[in-house]
Amino acid sequence: KTLALIGAPTDIGAGHRGAVMGPEALRVAGLAEALRGRGLEVIDTGNLSGPANPWLPPVDGYRHLEQVVAWNRLVMDAVRDQLGQGRLPVLMGGDHCLGLGSITAVARHCRETGKKLRVIWLDAHADFNTSDVTPSGNVHGMPVACLCGVGPRPLTHLDGDSPAMQPDQIRQIGIRSVDQGEKRLVKEYGLDIYDMRYIDEFGMKRAMEEALEGIDEQTHVHVSFDVDFLDPSIAPGVGTTVPGGPNYREAQLVMEMIADTGRLASLDIVELNPAFDDHNKTGLLAVDLVESLFGKSTLMRD
Ligand code: ARG
Ligand code: MN
Ligand code: MN
Ligand code: MN
Repeated sequence: KTLALIGAPTDIGAGHRGAVMGPEALRVAGLAEALRGRGLEVIDTGNLSGPANPWLPPVDGYRHLEQVVAWNRLVMDAVRDQLGQGRLPVLMGGDHCLGLGSITAVARHCRETGKKLRVIWLDAHADFNTSDVTPSGNVHGMPVACLCGVGPRPLTHLDGDSPAMQPDQIRQIGIRSVDQGEKRLVKEYGLDIYDMRYIDEFGMKRAMEEALEGIDEQTHVHVSFDVDFLDPSIAPGVGTTVPGGPNYREAQLVMEMIADTGRLASLDIVELNPAFDDHNKTGLLAVDLVESLFGKSTLMRD
């Protein structure tokens, strides 16, 4: 299977500027070379080109809604195009609002090919805000809600159909920052969340076993990797750090257990913000973890 890297340089949905530099930081960190080193065929399709960030305050609870819609259409079309060619799309963001376009395309592809969709959402945040409850108006805090049909019509109906997916198709790992009104919503919609409290009490192994339960040959696994999932001590290069995240070994285990399913079929790498990073340390760590996601293992297992 050929991997297709898709760059989406924008911070249109974020609260800090800088994720616009994410795709290039991943390239500089050697993402394509590392994956080729795994024996995979990798094509870099280059960068999408969308509207600039006007850096305006929220309007009716959304910041830059029009530009967010435009970027997500571009991402949706690019991901759909690569899936249609039988390739495995790797979206290099960009902020996490782009998960909406990416997963909307993946969900449609699953419906058309009769696959079961399982989204593994690695994040410090639940990203289930709405315009009524958002503390910021930043759309990168809203993509999961929009995918489940909760949000403004242009985002919930990105490809015409709504919702793109059901709450029972997603598992969220590493969550440790959920806003007040957002908490009520994730309970109401019954999201399956393995938060840091759960991981502390039962361990990452058990959390991942449960999150991956039920995956079979007919499952398309999509990983949406928000780099702020990782503990800020190892991954400072993100706009919205939250202390108390997974450490290096826990993160590796997550990637290795997903790789072991053999069903990974699409990926987002988002929220990498070089403006906050230390000599591309976070970009390099993201590449290291993505290698594991594609099956790099220690001698003990090979
Ligand atoms: N919950 C906060 C908000 O809605 C932060 C969201 C951060 N999301 C992210 N993808 N980094 O503003
Ligand atoms: Mn996120
Ligand atoms: Mn996050
Ligand atoms: Mn590894």
